[in-house]
Amino acid sequence: MTLDTSASPRGAIVRVAALAGLGGLLFGYDTGVISGAAQFIADEFDLGNQALEIVVSAVLAGAILGALLAGRLSGAIGRRRTILLAAVLFAIGALGSAAAPSAELLIGARVVLGIAIGVTSLAVPLYISESAPAANRGALVTLFQLAVTVGILVATLVDEAFSEVNEGWRWMLGLAIVPAVLLFAGMLKAPPSPRWLVSKGRVGEAAEVLGRYTPPERVDELIGEIREDLSGSEGGTLRDLFAPALRSVLIIGVAMAIIQQITGINTVIYYDVNIFERAGIVDASDAILAAVVVAGTNVLATLIAIRYIDRVGRRRLLIVGMSGMIVGLVALGFTFALPSGEDTAAALSLLALVVYVVSFAFSLGPVVWVLISEIYPTAVRGPAMSVATMANWGANLLVALTFLTLLDELGEAETFWLYAGVTLLSLIFVILKVPETKGKTLEEIAADLGTSGEVDRPDG
Ligand code: BGC
Repeated sequence: MTLDTSASPRGAIVRVAALAGLGGLLFGYDTGVISGAAQFIADEFDLGNQALEIVVSAVLAGAILGALLAGRLSGAIGRRRTILLAAVLFAIGALGSAAAPSAELLIGARVVLGIAIGVTSLAVPLYISESAPAANRGALVTLFQLAVTVGILVATLVDEAFSEVNEGWRWMLGLAIVPAVLLFAGMLKAPPSPRWLVSKGRVGEAAEVLGRYTPPERVDELIGEIREDLSGSEGGTLRDLFAPALRSVLIIGVAMAIIQQITGINTVIYYDVNIFERAGIVDASDAILAAVVVAGTNVLATLIAIRYIDRVGRRRLLIVGMSGMIVGLVALGFTFALPSGEDTAAALSLLALVVYVVSFAFSLGPVVWVLISEIYPTAVRGPAMSVATMANWGANLLVALTFLTLLDELGEAETFWLYAGVTLLSLIFVILKVPETKGKTLEEIAADLGTSGEVDRPDG
């Protein structure tokens, strides 16, 4: 492993990243937990399919709003305080959904949770990326994605543990209060992002934060580079994003954020039990076991990215992983063409799904969050990430709302082949457009991409 958590300077930054990563745990838990809770909620409040869909997707709609707010907020009050605010919203949302006396209040509480998730999905990668040394930035931001996957796994297990308990769904939704409190307590002591400090003219404090894990002779130099990158820009607003020099990186970030979703990962994460049933795994406990296998695989394969993202680079992980996703999706489609009800067909479907999930977990899963936290210059990083992150949640919502219909209208095999085709086109986009950012400081990346200090100079 390239990361060590001893008392070394590097240990300090790993601890900060791991703490902020707790935000990822909440993101994963709160998006994952509903699949096991939904049926109980429908029974409790006597909800039809449509009402239940609103309960489920309220979180995704909230996340779009959260992503919109977080860009400006993280500039105005700082990245660290934005995460603190998200922790408070997570706690309110968790308690509110656990205690909800009606479906309406439950939907309200889930919108609040969604806002917290949207804010977190922007502010945590942003905070870690700006705080991390260039050589480990990829691995440290990937800790966030690792936490997302752990959150999904824990949610799967908690759903299972409380499925027999009276009103167990309230526990499923309410337990998220625990990591929310830990996130808040941890971030209270964490230092602000050094790049945000420089953008506010608080250079002395920035030097102090950077000095904790940067060799002293490098601190002044780095501050100089950050100031250079920020020069000529004031604030950074959504309008600045359309400066010619920024347009193409804006498009790359937004496209990658959308690609992460339209290649289908959440059809598996949100609907795996449904897929297993269609693949012939009818026994409920087998379906749950299969769901745990998928969630566990997702966690383990993310470790591959932590190990390799700063060594082989972002592009290569993407290219290898997306190729594996295509193989998994094509194979998954074929397993549905086999005679149903056979154990081999069900086992092969699970195997194909595992190939797909492993390949996602070391490529599009982490690399997208890493890329969108590093390809924009500091002056507009918040607003630019806002646009990309909103696109990510919007595409997530679109896939969640259309997947079951696609299965019914097109058929299982054809639906997965459609996702395979989309992944192939996305892979071509990656090969042609995505820059390699491994090992460079954020300022070097901006210089390479020609975006440094370009923000307030619309003539480029
Ligand atoms: C994606 C989520 C997805 C998760 C699965 C994240 O990177 O943004 O939509 O559920 O990975 O591990």
